[in-house]
Amino acid sequence: METQKTIGVLTSGGDAPGMNAAIRAVTRAALKKGYKVLGVKRGYHGLLRGEIEVLNSRSVSETLQKGGTFLQTARSKEFATPNGIKKAVDVAKIFGMDALVVIGGDGSFKGARELANAGLPTIGIPGTIDNDIASTDYTLGFDTALNTAMDAIDKIRDTSSSHERCSVIEVMGRDAGYVAVNLGIANGAEAVIIPERDYDINDIKKMIIEGSNRGKKHYIIIVSEGVGGSQKLCKEIEESTGIESRVSILGYIQRGGSPTLVDRVKASMMGSYAVELIEKGSVNRIIGEKDGKLVDYEINEAIEMKKSIDEKLIELVDILS
Ligand code: F6P
Repeated sequence: METQKTIGVLTSGGDAPGMNAAIRAVTRAALKKGYKVLGVKRGYHGLLRGEIEVLNSRSVSETLQKGGTFLQTARSKEFATPNGIKKAVDVAKIFGMDALVVIGGDGSFKGARELANAGLPTIGIPGTIDNDIASTDYTLGFDTALNTAMDAIDKIRDTSSSHERCSVIEVMGRDAGYVAVNLGIANGAEAVIIPERDYDINDIKKMIIEGSNRGKKHYIIIVSEGVGGSQKLCKEIEESTGIESRVSILGYIQRGGSPTLVDRVKASMMGSYAVELIEKGSVNRIIGEKDGKLVDYEINEAIEMKKSIDEKLIELVDILS
């Protein structure tokens, strides 16, 4: 008789809306197959400390619609050492884990690769608001974060237009401009500054001066956190164009909140797919979405992939501004 499989699940790195929906899907899909499910608290940090609890169907009820991650998350320095990896695998074995599902971003996937190499089978589910993982077109949390930021920027636009100001708005995206570019289109920004494209402040000043000469009264400039320097940029714009300017840094508001339908559905699909892969014995893989379909790649292959922003999206901001 086959022994009962035990699947662990954890969230790691920055939280993202939809993580709870993914944990719930992993849990319920695994329980349907008769597996035991273990929830690891606080990511790899909690794994090292054996902060692990049994999840049943009720443990994940009322989680689907909630932002954040009820398992909590962390960024662990201790884990990223040879001793840390060995200890984490030992703890997982003591708890009888046959496989671990890691929901997080690229740093979390590198951790999952180390665990896989040290003998603990892993599956990665992409969860980060940045949408910066190369092996997938979509990362959980992206849609919710964009909608939250879009609403916030609409509100800033109201005050910006009332006061006839230039609003410089910094949005998240550690190394990538996906959040900024999409918001640039959705919020009708005059300019978007992202790490993937060099920018010249003189072009922005020129655009504002020319706009003002045509009678334009207010401006929205979106700056990706990966470029930064919003305060300095704002000051320079005000000094050289004479237009009153203000900075808003949206910050962590972008990471919170109830997941949108898109995030709930995609998280549910990815969570269930992770269990299917484990059932097939197809482990050490990263799940993604390509052209609207779920896919999975060998973990090394996935981590080595490179992603670039669609130039057409960047051009669209310029065309429509
Ligand atoms: O990766 C998601 C993200 O929100 C980035 O956009 C941001 O740079 C980073 O996390 C912030 O991380 P922390 O929560 O550790 O400050």
